[in-house]
Amino acid sequence: MDTAEIDRCFEVAVGLVKEAGQVVREAIKKQKKIEMKSSSVDLVTESDKAVEKLLIEGLSKAFPSHKFIGEESTADGAKCELTSDPTWIIDPIDGTMNFVHSLPYTCVSVGLWGGREALAGIIFNPVLDQMFTAKKGQGAYLNGERITVSGEKDLSKALVFAEMGTSHDPEKVKTVLANLTTLMPRVHGLRDCGSAAVSLASVAAGHGDSFFHYGLGPWDMAAGALLVWEAGGVVCGLEGGPFDLMRRRVLCASTPELAKEIASLLSQYQPTPDGDLSG
Ligand code: IPD
Repeated sequence: MDTAEIDRCFEVAVGLVKEAGQVVREAIKKQKKIEMKSSSVDLVTESDKAVEKLLIEGLSKAFPSHKFIGEESTADGAKCELTSDPTWIIDPIDGTMNFVHSLPYTCVSVGLWGGREALAGIIFNPVLDQMFTAKKGQGAYLNGERITVSGEKDLSKALVFAEMGTSHDPEKVKTVLANLTTLMPRVHGLRDCGSAAVSLASVAAGHGDSFFHYGLGPWDMAAGALLVWEAGGVVCGLEGGPFDLMRRRVLCASTPELAKEIASLLSQYQPTPDGDLSG
């Protein structure tokens, strides 16, 4: 896809994400209709479904040949496959648990990938009115202002987002707690903001220095990874190797030095590629 095509896709997607944001902004104040997915803490609301429908209908009307990977469509049995074709990767509400509790760390996340690389990414927190955007090779922005990562190299000065996630798999819980124990005395601060996409966007904007998680879907990372890359940061696998969008794990950091040190300290956990999609 050339730059003009990416620009067109981006403009259409930003318009739809703003509409989607309006739905989330209104719904977060109200009583939610909640359903459980893989477990009692893996949730979906009518708003997740409505927003995913709005985005997929709007994008497929504008780009009939494009493919889709959506969190809720996948939960309903759609194939979750990344090919080289232009593919919109959508998390209608990332941070659903926060949304359910009206905690404003929640967002709409839309990534466009093609040729197996990220081309455009939009993360919109409509409650705090923060629109993070990036296009390949064109930098990352927050509400139209250019953003860059913090550049922090020193772990003892780093604010690290370390998600606890939703999965109660005993092996996963053990790994999460081991990593918190390892990192807590070494970092400036540890945070769990409850939305992987908001955490990635925060690192891109220099509002934190690193984020790692094992148990994500591609929809949690597709837009945020591009934001971090375009803001000058590192996005890699949890062991510090190449990032694989479909492998359910991510480590990002403001510098290679920080990424390397955190990767060397982490206990590893690999969720199954399919099956239990809770994180
Ligand atoms: C969740 C959020 C959360 C992460 C979970 C994800 P969802 O996505 O990104 O931060 O810890 O693993 O499942 O379900 O709110 O879209």
